[in-house]
Amino acid sequence: MPRTSVVCNFLVELPIFLLFGTTFKGAIDDVDVILEILKDCGYSQDRFYIHCDAALCGLMTPFINNMISFKKPIGSVTISGHKFLGCPMPCGVQITRKSYINNLSTNVEYIASMDATISGSRNGLTPIFLWYSLSAKGQFGLQKDVKKCLENAKYLKDRLQQAGISVMVNELSIIVVLERPRDHEFVRRWQLSCVKDMAHVIVMPGITREMLDNFISELVQQRKQWYKDGKAEAPCVADDIGAQNCACSYHKIDYISS
Ligand SMILES: *Cc1c(COP(=O)(O)O)cnc(C)c1O
Ligand SMILES: *[C@@H]1O[C@H](CO)[C@@H](O)[C@H](O)[C@H]1NC(C)=O
Repeated sequence: MPRTSVVCNFLVELPIFLLFGTTFKGAIDDVDVILEILKDCGYSQDRFYIHCDAALCGLMTPFINNMISFKKPIGSVTISGHKFLGCPMPCGVQITRKSYINNLSTNVEYIASMDATISGSRNGLTPIFLWYSLSAKGQFGLQKDVKKCLENAKYLKDRLQQAGISVMVNELSIIVVLERPRDHEFVRRWQLSCVKDMAHVIVMPGITREMLDNFISELVQQRKQWYKDGKAEAPCVADDIGAQNCACSYHKIDYISS
């Protein structure tokens, strides 16, 4: 059950949803800071429930900083199988504590079994895809993928920055946020997902340096055309990705010097 809602069926004073990789910019919540704040504010563990939505990053954090752990007072974690692992159909895993599962489970009469899913049924094929992907890669394979993706994201960011293009990458993220390319055809050809004046590239395990180089050189070349006679200017994205990451004509000076 990949969705993040319906994670607890009991009343708790303070339900908290943490994100490990926001969808567009890949920002990661710091669970340790949040636990510290809860403690400082006098919240005992029975008064809050923490769900970790780690759809994309859940398979990366174990190799980065081990931030998500049931040794900490968290209630549940979800990961998607069709993202970092690349399963060919949407699927996911929710891990939670036994006490919650027992509480959620009901006896589904027509299957004569206890079940914790909303519909009393689930896809039986997707766990096989998940298992296959996990066992084919193994722990070291996954670790290598994580390292490669982080390096490639940094590479893409550095190259765009050198080319004077607005770009930002959150800490430990593989999502490279850049200024929205001016041409719809370019956006369509590269299948870029855009929000406001931003586009993002998620540097997944299947992305090679060669693909990144092609993307960069095409963008740099086309950009020269879009902005050549000064009639159009690259968008200002300072409000969305920070002035220090914005290379628009107004923020350019700071950008070059930073
Ligand atoms: C993709 C994503 C979702 C949705 O997960 P699905 O498994 O595709 O339903 C939820 N939260 C975050 C942070 C995501 O990146
Ligand atoms: C389990 O459910 C009961 C009744 O619905 C509730 O009182 C109790 O707090 C729940 N326990 C947990 C751990 O969710």
